[in-house]
Amino acid sequence: MKKHMNRMAILYGLLALPMVAIAQQKTVDQRVDSVLALMTLDEMIGQMNLFTSDWAVTGPTLRENYKADIQAGKVGAIFNAHTAEYNRELQRMAVEETRLGIPLIFGYDVIHGYKTITPVPLGEAASWDLEAIERAARIAAEEATAAGLHWTFAPMVDIARDPRWGRIMEGAGEDPYLGELIAAARVKGFQGDDIAAVNTLIACAKHFAAYGAAQAGRDYHTVDISERTLRELYLPPFKAALDAGVYTFMTSFNELDGVPATANAHLLREILREEWGFDGFVVTDYTSINEMVPHGYAADDQQAAMQAVNAGVDMDMQGATFYDHLKALVADGNVSEDRIREAVGDILRVKFQLGLFDDPYRYSNTDREQNNIMTERQLADAQDIARKSTVLLKNEGQVLPLAKDMGTLAVIGPLADSQDDLLGAWRGAGEADQAVSLLSGIKEKLGEGVRILYAKGAEIEGEDRSGFKAAELAAMEADAVVLAVGEGSWMSGEAASRGMIGLPGVQTDLVKAIVATGKPVVVVLMNGRPLAIPWIAENAPAILETWFAGTRGGPAIADVLFGDYNPSGKLPVTFPRHEAQIPIFYAAKNTGRPMDPNNKYTSKYLDIPNTPLYPFGYGLSYTTFAYSNLKVDQSEFRAGESLTVSVQLANTGKRTGKETVQLYIRDLVGSTTRPLRELKAFRQVALDAGESQTVSFELEPETFKFFDAKMEFRAEPGDFEIYVGGDSNAKEMVKVKLVER
Ligand code: BGC
Repeated sequence: MKKHMNRMAILYGLLALPMVAIAQQKTVDQRVDSVLALMTLDEMIGQMNLFTSDWAVTGPTLRENYKADIQAGKVGAIFNAHTAEYNRELQRMAVEETRLGIPLIFGYDVIHGYKTITPVPLGEAASWDLEAIERAARIAAEEATAAGLHWTFAPMVDIARDPRWGRIMEGAGEDPYLGELIAAARVKGFQGDDIAAVNTLIACAKHFAAYGAAQAGRDYHTVDISERTLRELYLPPFKAALDAGVYTFMTSFNELDGVPATANAHLLREILREEWGFDGFVVTDYTSINEMVPHGYAADDQQAAMQAVNAGVDMDMQGATFYDHLKALVADGNVSEDRIREAVGDILRVKFQLGLFDDPYRYSNTDREQNNIMTERQLADAQDIARKSTVLLKNEGQVLPLAKDMGTLAVIGPLADSQDDLLGAWRGAGEADQAVSLLSGIKEKLGEGVRILYAKGAEIEGEDRSGFKAAELAAMEADAVVLAVGEGSWMSGEAASRGMIGLPGVQTDLVKAIVATGKPVVVVLMNGRPLAIPWIAENAPAILETWFAGTRGGPAIADVLFGDYNPSGKLPVTFPRHEAQIPIFYAAKNTGRPMDPNNKYTSKYLDIPNTPLYPFGYGLSYTTFAYSNLKVDQSEFRAGESLTVSVQLANTGKRTGKETVQLYIRDLVGSTTRPLRELKAFRQVALDAGESQTVSFELEPETFKFFDAKMEFRAEPGDFEIYVGGDSNAKEMVKVKLVER
């Protein structure tokens, strides 16, 4: 600390300002300027490099000399290094061994938890519970900051409509409105109210932009979409993250209209800085500057570095292109020193805001690390959000909930006793042996009273059917079967696209064999994307979608299976019947020849239906809900006026339950065509059996706006339909008319 004080003294001493004046330097911008004024070009460029430590590999290249780089003042931030002690040592190198002693920022992919792992983000999105989602991010921040971290590369706010794309798991699904709300909730959860607090992380909205539109769902593939689609579909969650105060943005790997996002001045300058007024810093994705060479956009790394920095990139993740080339680019006049100063100013400002200049070690506190990670409260919250994320897809004959007093239960399937898969991909520092498997969760709940027969049946992948027999025997001996099938945790996330999205290996055959026993079978799905499982949907009596539910996944799923929690999740993404339907999403256009089964010349297939297996917004409960009496306070309204829509919701079943009431609109005629339905509002309502409630929505004028033919965001006069119900096929409808002034 003493040495550190010396550094700070040098810092300010060089400025030749009396300490009093420094104390009076109140604004962060003034403090930033005071540091910038001391920096050489080399030191400034140093701040613009982000390198990985050798703790984790999240991309193709590793730089081995990151410690030497820190000591040489050539690094502004480090990622993939964590724990209070280790990061303290790296911080010490930066603060004590470099001339200016500028502290490092430590980043990490804290995507759905640091040690306490909550469900994968797509799973959390299925809760539609913004408060729970925010809380999950809050837990992640508490734990990560206790382990020396300042910065998470989350939330991923990419809208995804192609379930083949493995990264669909990391986002909030297919809808921009739900995506906006969840993006904001996650940013608030990570960043809290006060970014200078030691238990809040700066967040990073990624991947800017339209990464989710990769052609054919193949990761890193080309994106070619219209400006309208960009603005209507892909940008809103980024804007919402920005409005929620996000400090950083990460560029995406893809190109957009021929220009890689990492050098896309339209995105990084015109939209992000000029239109939206973003004042944090922009980091690239992992070596995405270098990748502009194979993209065919730059002849070499030097040109790529120039293109990226001039387009508005402030920090190069792992590519070392700024490290190697920025100085020469400045010397040759290809990059201005002002641009460098601007980028470094943005980075330093965040370091000040984090409080790192006041105490660079404030996040490295071994006490907090020992006491604030995986606490009882955090684990209980993780279990709660995991329960809220489950989606009941089918429950024929009320197979669920299962009785706790049955004689024998068979627990079958390759995922039934897996701890590892529960954590999903991007599991931070989560440890599989801390996760509670479904089998253990069921045993914990049922105790000795129920005989439990476990049989794996098959592996997740491969052709081996030798375990089927034992699994069938177990099923035959049991009163009911819980059959856990799905994907391995490595089958979604980055570089994990799948062409066929059914159950891998022989799992569907295993399900067929077990269903053939005639026992009540509950299929528990664990997966990071929508699955095409038409046979199971048709033939299994009960299906519970649990995603990858995290550290407390087993107990959470057991709570739902045995009725201690009534499931309330709703799909944040459409489940197709078949891969050949992809892309399939609820907000489709009508076309000029909407599907008519009796007319050949309409928009359909000869061999598969148009309809999904399960629509967006869908999810059952152990009780039932009925909608009636949908009303609007005025059937004609003017631009700028709000509308109040109300509906009567009744719990018509026998249990207390929670429904997510969803409101969709359709704009019948526009200067550009509009989707058949667009989600515009939702509300979660808990009702006791037999209870009803009027649920109302206040629709702001914004609700009816879209990008018109001239790309102006406005509402056009004309007719709208408003639908309210429990999923995107909601039947209750009222018509309203927006009239000219
Ligand atoms: C991913 C990012 C991630 C980064 C750092 C990249 O490969 O695309 O989402 O934040 O690695 O691990």
